[in-house]
Amino acid sequence: MCGIVGCTAQGGEVVAGLVESLKRLEYRGYDSSGIAAQTVQGIGIVRRVGKIRELEAQLQQEPLIASTAIGHTRWATHGRPTEANAHPHRCGKLVVVHNGIIENYLELRQELGASGAVFQSETDTEVVAHLVASLWQGDLAAAVRAAVGRLEGSFALALMHEDTPEVIVAARRDSPLVLGVGEGAHWLASDVAALLPWTRRVIYLEDGDVAELHPTALSVTDMAGKKQHRPVVEISWSAEMAEKGGYAHFMLKEIHEQPTTVANALLGRIAEKSGTITLDGFNIDDDTLRSLRRVSIVACGTSWHAGQVGRFLIEQDAGLPVEVDYASEAIYREPMLGKDDLLIAISQSGETADTRAALRRGREAGAHTLVISNVAGSSMARDAQSVLLTYAGPEIGVASTKAFMGQLTVLSLLALKLGAVRGKLTNGELRRRLHELKLLPHAIEAALHSSDAAKDIAAELAAARDALFIGRGVNYPIALEGALKLKEISYIHAEGYPAGEMKHGPIALIDASMPVIAIATHAATYAVIAGNVEEAKARGARIIALVSQGDDRVAKSAWRTIVLPAVPENLSPLVNIVPLQLLAYWTAVARNADVDQPRNLAKTVTVQ
Ligand code: M6R
Repeated sequence: MCGIVGCTAQGGEVVAGLVESLKRLEYRGYDSSGIAAQTVQGIGIVRRVGKIRELEAQLQQEPLIASTAIGHTRWATHGRPTEANAHPHRCGKLVVVHNGIIENYLELRQELGASGAVFQSETDTEVVAHLVASLWQGDLAAAVRAAVGRLEGSFALALMHEDTPEVIVAARRDSPLVLGVGEGAHWLASDVAALLPWTRRVIYLEDGDVAELHPTALSVTDMAGKKQHRPVVEISWSAEMAEKGGYAHFMLKEIHEQPTTVANALLGRIAEKSGTITLDGFNIDDDTLRSLRRVSIVACGTSWHAGQVGRFLIEQDAGLPVEVDYASEAIYREPMLGKDDLLIAISQSGETADTRAALRRGREAGAHTLVISNVAGSSMARDAQSVLLTYAGPEIGVASTKAFMGQLTVLSLLALKLGAVRGKLTNGELRRRLHELKLLPHAIEAALHSSDAAKDIAAELAAARDALFIGRGVNYPIALEGALKLKEISYIHAEGYPAGEMKHGPIALIDASMPVIAIATHAATYAVIAGNVEEAKARGARIIALVSQGDDRVAKSAWRTIVLPAVPENLSPLVNIVPLQLLAYWTAVARNADVDQPRNLAKTVTVQ
């Protein structure tokens, strides 16, 4: 999705720094970029279609020297990815950048057009520039406040006016926006990652906030102009944490960080000896947990797959019925939730529009709400009653890997906590399970040794047109996630199936050109999945099998095997996903695809 940045500083030159910040938003997905800066000749704008390096090259030809500027990466929604549609958009002395969608833009365009506005682009955003300019009376913040009341839809906006050259005004509704606080400088950005090189002191704006930034002053009001107090939060992520650290791609770095992800998600939360789990941010008391009737999980994409694993774990460990919904579907059905239900929204970013909308509906229906997210100050983290952070650190690769691992770890802890409180697990069982969890980072470390085997297999998988991933039980969602990873970064068509469904249709697809990736590690379902693998093999499929150490059956039918450390079945998803991530990664590399920024995808989907 689009990314916005801005900086106003006391003297100095900020444009190069803003380009650097825009690079840190590249992972969100974009097709064009631009900068507007308050130069001595007035506001100058440079925009380019394509990668940020195109913008940088143009800025070499056409430098913008300024101490106040705003910038944007655009992910096209209304209007093609062209220079004219790229942001910033201008109306006279005023410029604007925008993330989100102005739903009533056609109506506003007509109205403004009738009063003489001439539009240069096909975008919804340009109406904002004309609307604010029409309301300008010398005070930019006042004009923005008057304008946003007329906007329907979602927005994070940053605006400048030539007559107030040190001022940036920002506003948000349903799209993320964070301010950076420095000495003699203030910043704004869609995401904290863009601010890390400059400051770690940030302010998360809330829906309805309008902020006015000067180099040495900062104020926030609501849309009616009433002053709002927003706390300054100290971010613990360092700029280095958002860099590649010697890996060829962010995705590869993030895959390799997963043993640490698990350790961090457990840190300070478990006391193995006493068998206690302390979940910071979880505010639902034990009596309420005991009286729960049902758990409902909403999420999208990879987070939805984590939810499917969570369902298996919570049902098994806590004996609570769980349903898992795509957030984008849940919002179009009756919520069917009430005071005896726990609604869990899972979201790496905490900003996904559909998941956020589903969370709100659940809260309004009276359910207890919990968010599992990687971003402490995200919109969802602030919307829910309880928040469990995954502590995976910034995830930059568009394809989610370590955040998924963090989600699975937190869900494992939550299932154990519910099981213990509800009396389904004895203290002895809980202590044993906590011990197994503590050993998990070692097993994940060992699974990372499959990288060479995955690379080797990928050299051939790269030529496939389609691939099938099969799994059972708690590893069925891992088959889905393996297929999603492969399709989103290598563009090979891939489907995940519960292995038992093969005979009900998909087996018809199998011939020698169809790779079948089977998750056949140690589990209660091992014998049945071994049978499914043999059936596929008998029809000519090339089987790539994930098996546990010591396997002597599935490996015999497989074209290639990846051997993994044996772990308890309920923890096996956290180990089995690793070689599938590596397989997708190396296949994408072999196909020369853009691993970290796959085509058409955005890291944070802030529109429905
Ligand atoms: O930030 P979220 O976890 O809410 O994002 C959900 C999906 O957009 C995300 O998982 C997406 O499917 C990724 N591309 C998966 O790699």
